[in-house]
Amino acid sequence: MISTRLHPDKQSAAQAIAREIADLIQLRSKSGKPTVLGLATGSTPLPLYAELIRLHRAEGLSFRSVITFNLDEYEGLGPAHPQSYRFFMEENLFRHLDIPAANIHIPDGMAKDPASHCAEYEAAIRAAGGIDLQILGIGRTGHIGFNEPPSAADCRTRWVHLDGVTRKDNSVFFGDLAQVPHGALTMGVATILEARQVALIAFGEAKAEIVARAIKEAPSADCPATWLQRHPACTFHLDAAAAKGL
Ligand code: F6R
Repeated sequence: MISTRLHPDKQSAAQAIAREIADLIQLRSKSGKPTVLGLATGSTPLPLYAELIRLHRAEGLSFRSVITFNLDEYEGLGPAHPQSYRFFMEENLFRHLDIPAANIHIPDGMAKDPASHCAEYEAAIRAAGGIDLQILGIGRTGHIGFNEPPSAADCRTRWVHLDGVTRKDNSVFFGDLAQVPHGALTMGVATILEARQVALIAFGEAKAEIVARAIKEAPSADCPATWLQRHPACTFHLDAAAAKGL
């Protein structure tokens, strides 16, 4: 089931979700348990990451017991490439926190054998006890992670071909469409649905149509975000512009 939560602006959304994450970390670490977070890249989670960094600095929130799994990585981009998601995460979150390097997991876009790398990624998530909270954005194609349409509900971490719309949307980060990779490794829909809680974030009018489709359309591979309707604890965190079609 998808519940929606409307926020006055990006900053308020970031504060509310960061507080939930902080509470989860504190609750779990009290009983000696790690917190496993699923993380997204792109422009949407940036205010959230800034707020988590603020909580770490200003309130001493520790990430020592946190284990992270990122959703996806571009094919062919190594950690030193400024557009790789590994680079993005280091710059915008990890290097500002006390999270141990060994606790950070991001699919390897340079993996020589993507199929076995993806199987190992799934195994690592299971070995960590599964994801407690998965953060998601949503693409205009209806993708979650890089699960472009059509993506079935049972798909797992794998190599995918990026949709032309996604490549165009993401070309703003690369400065040139030709530089945007054609493929990526992504957690699957089934992998995402196994997270115990899901928080999807969407801001701005450009996301209004796809947010409405994700919530209102019958679940199908044509709009992968619709599979979230089958999740028992999924919240869409929206600003007014993104909620316009609801
Ligand atoms: C990123 C990811 C994607 C993005 C989506 C929205 O790791 O998995 O699904 O969340 O493309 O991107 P932005 O936030 O840039 O609009």
